[in-house]
Amino acid sequence: MCGIIGVTGSTDSLSLILEGLSRLEYRGYDSAGVALQADGKLWRQRRAGKLAELQNAVGDAPRSATAGIGHTRWATHGRPTDANAHPHVDQSGRLALIHNGIIENYVQLVDQLIGKGHEFTSQTDTEVLAHLIGDEYDRCGSLVEATRRCLLRVEGSFAVALIHADDPELIVAARRGSPLVVGRTEGMTLLGSDIPALLSHTREIYIIDDDQLLELRPGLIAASDLQGNPVELQVRTIAWDIEAAEKGGYDTYMLKEMHEQPAAVRDTLRDRVQNGLLHVDEMRLTEDELRSVDKVFIVACGSSYHAGMVARQAIEHWTRLPVELDIASEFRYRDPVVDQHTLVVGVSQSGESIDTLFAARAAKRWGAKVLAVTNVVDSSLARESEAVLYTRAGPEVAVASTKAHLSQIVGMQVLALYLAQVRGTIYPSEAAQLFDGLMELPDKVAEALSRHDQVAAVARALPPARDFFYLGRGVGYPVALEGALKLKEISYLRAEGYPGGELKHGPIALIEPGTVVVGIATKGRLQSKLLANIEEVRARGATIILVVNDSDERTASLGDYVFSVPQTFELYSPVLDNLPLQLFAYELAKARGNDVDQPRNLAKVVTVE
Ligand code: M6R
Repeated sequence: MCGIIGVTGSTDSLSLILEGLSRLEYRGYDSAGVALQADGKLWRQRRAGKLAELQNAVGDAPRSATAGIGHTRWATHGRPTDANAHPHVDQSGRLALIHNGIIENYVQLVDQLIGKGHEFTSQTDTEVLAHLIGDEYDRCGSLVEATRRCLLRVEGSFAVALIHADDPELIVAARRGSPLVVGRTEGMTLLGSDIPALLSHTREIYIIDDDQLLELRPGLIAASDLQGNPVELQVRTIAWDIEAAEKGGYDTYMLKEMHEQPAAVRDTLRDRVQNGLLHVDEMRLTEDELRSVDKVFIVACGSSYHAGMVARQAIEHWTRLPVELDIASEFRYRDPVVDQHTLVVGVSQSGESIDTLFAARAAKRWGAKVLAVTNVVDSSLARESEAVLYTRAGPEVAVASTKAHLSQIVGMQVLALYLAQVRGTIYPSEAAQLFDGLMELPDKVAEALSRHDQVAAVARALPPARDFFYLGRGVGYPVALEGALKLKEISYLRAEGYPGGELKHGPIALIEPGTVVVGIATKGRLQSKLLANIEEVRARGATIILVVNDSDERTASLGDYVFSVPQTFELYSPVLDNLPLQLFAYELAKARGNDVDQPRNLAKVVTVE
């Protein structure tokens, strides 16, 4: 986790760093810090809490800074305190370093350095890196060389950037497993954890790969690998606008992103059919290889996992391939039955979730073919996969995933149909017809969102409740899990999602008068079974909210409150059924005065295990 930013060659490094940090705050926001190199000295300020705390504490920053680095943190090792905030300095106090990732062998490294007289002032795994590199620098006199040598001794993941009082314009940076991008203008060079952090300065971005080391000077970027061989970086011109990553008049990013869902779904479907055939964005697997697949594994975390649950049903239905689904952090520590005939689909909005990335890497090692479904072009997952389907939802800033989740569901419906087309399990005409059904979704998503006021009225009218259960069956089950996750994340209310049929095997013991049960009761094969489960909880005093289809008056009459959504083909229904549940969680969280964009204890991109 964490966001890093660096700039060399600006006459106003501090403002640029603070501006970059404000764009990166979604990556972590429990403390922030900045270090500047000015007049042969280091100046540093760090503060626990949100970025505003740091902004209020930089009044005495030197105006003559030539280079600087900044960091916004999401705690992994060590509580969110001033002392644990980055940048950390080395033993001499002349080297400052920021880090995103985890140093797994830090305990051994700390022991070695303590043996040499080093003193540590934080509980972080990061401080050791500053000391280690500083120690090596004292011996070899080159910051680039010292960093290279030390990173070869480090186990774990990192994107690091460091400055030294001895070299006024130099920033050294490197990455392994955590994202890092750089850009330059005439006379200035910047680095950051993601593209939006740099976009107000340049559209020409270089995406750094694992085990690459950078020497950055004003207007200059020199890259090498950890063995010291020069590396040529490829520049990419970014087409999307910084405004796309900003609030655009809405109160919160989450509200803006929910209302961007019709466009996100439309964009995800755009140009998928060429010459009458479906296709995905990047395909480095041959059709023969795809036809030789005899099993699909989907790996993901959080909301992406829930989208994967919907995809499992679609892929099984259209291709008749067996599909397994696993939480990414569990997958690589099991002994899954994976071989060269397995297609592993890694689903990740960011493409940087370390659990999903490592699961994909393990799958590759075991010989599987890896296909990424991701929202971020050139993210690590995308670059490391043999095929990519991009979800095209645009930058998602709010921690709670909405538009990216919906686009994942839609994108993986396309994937299911594409696989079926290649493997010949559906006729091309059938695929085209099913694709037309998907194309009706953007308008229906807009229609469902236009009922925000009705959802808000239910949230207001609902008596205060402590416990929420979300029940669904079939494709309604992942919707139930996702609805409960949204409520937990932003309202901090207790919410659990269950398959309706499972409740009577234990959890029904928790139902009592006042418990709120949300049933996903839109039309489908299992609607009557779900309604029977709803009767079981009604009999025990639960308050019932039902998600129903327009004009299904009979089902609507069974709820104390109702959210209605347009009807669609059953496999596509999660796209619409999710919408009132997002709005409901949003309204309850706002009513409780919560920060919906940056809920407590969470971060947008989880780049630690
Ligand atoms: O970027 P990813 O899709 O890999 O992220 C996975 C989860 O961390 C993410 O979906 C998380 O559960 C969201 N906060 C859900 O709203």
